[in-house]
Amino acid sequence: MDHFHYRDGVLHVEDVALPTIAEAVGTPVYVYSTATFRRHAQVFRDALKGAGRVHLAYAIKANPNVAVLRVLADEGYGADVVSAGEMARALAAGIPASDIVFSGVGKTRDELACALDAGIGQFNLELEEEGEVLAALARDRGIRAPAVLRVNPDVDAGTHAKISTGRKENKFGVPIDQAPAMFDRLSKHEGLDLRGVAIHIGSQLADLAPLEAAYARIGELVAELRAAGHVISRVDLGGGLGVPYKPDDVLPSPADYGAMVARATAGWDVELMFEPGRVIAGNAGVLLTKVIWVKPGVTNPYVIVDAAMNDLARVAMYDAYHDFVAVEPGGERMTANIAGPVCETGDTFAMGRDIDVVKSGDLGVFRTAGAYGATMASTYNSRALVPEVLVDGDRFAVVADRIEPETILAAERVPEWLKR
Ligand code: LLP
Repeated sequence: MDHFHYRDGVLHVEDVALPTIAEAVGTPVYVYSTATFRRHAQVFRDALKGAGRVHLAYAIKANPNVAVLRVLADEGYGADVVSAGEMARALAAGIPASDIVFSGVGKTRDELACALDAGIGQFNLELEEEGEVLAALARDRGIRAPAVLRVNPDVDAGTHAKISTGRKENKFGVPIDQAPAMFDRLSKHEGLDLRGVAIHIGSQLADLAPLEAAYARIGELVAELRAAGHVISRVDLGGGLGVPYKPDDVLPSPADYGAMVARATAGWDVELMFEPGRVIAGNAGVLLTKVIWVKPGVTNPYVIVDAAMNDLARVAMYDAYHDFVAVEPGGERMTANIAGPVCETGDTFAMGRDIDVVKSGDLGVFRTAGAYGATMASTYNSRALVPEVLVDGDRFAVVADRIEPETILAAERVPEWLKR
């Protein structure tokens, strides 16, 4: 459920009509619904009620806007971060350091040190050497770093190859068969408080079976580690739950996921950590855009909108589907291609799509753009960095400015030898 609906024929986000935002802020612009974020956060939490002790760390890479983080902090969510930059955002939003999980396959020594100094609650180790370095940094500070070992369970998540992370050839985690010996060696470092294991097999999972298979392997590993005398108090089950992008997509609900988790982890007797991203943010945002031209095409017309692949990269990167609807539909339909102004054929959002009839100057939105949207934006083709707006009831605020090309240009330098 979300809070994007037509009222008197005009698409609203909560109680704000989208033309009002387009008028005030311009387009393209991402628009988020606070109520939808809150609802998703609550539904996901409720779904895990039967799973025992649970810690929720929102994967902020999905949507790291500091206002969004503030909303989720209010809902009691911690954060899963993958860089010092993300850690700084989570802390700036008021998320306690102890509720932050530091994931990522390439944490630098400086990042590890900075996270130790901040008092981060859990380090997810990706390789043995990282554990050794972290242990040494912690020992120098007279502390013990709370950590878990990320294992690669060699399970195919059945999602797009570029967002699959749990097959043995992927760069993530340590091979599950090597995990017991590695855990043993790492647990001997006095600077490490090694509490358990972590997995994350991929994103936009449309089927729970691969997750359940991966969790079963982790259950066996936990039993093996305990049999070897280790105290295992935490298991981090990652994120990955998919969301519907097409109107007729049917995906496992958070409740289905929660029931599976309760079943798969029964008897583990650990604190379960979760790192949901997309399921919290995906359907809480849209990308609002204006039609520049409707250009005749050989088969179908091209609706050229002012949003492009630099604003929403998912279609060009993962062949993703984002539903497109008119903000003020007249009831007629047309078959069209939708593309942005960037000079690449890849800058095409849809081909031969049945959409509301639109003409130049009309507003439309790409739906389900709250996750991996603005955060993956660039300024390619010297376009502005897309702004973000947060709606709450009948009020709205710009929560990220449009960064104009002149500002980017002002940060560039011509060296002395090229000056005329
Ligand atoms: N935990 C870890 C360690 C992750 O790598 C990720 C996502 C998550 C949690 C959150 O996963 P989620 O619940 O959002 O599926 N840019 C891509 C998605 C990349 C996901 C990367 N890792 C896209 O637009 O589809």
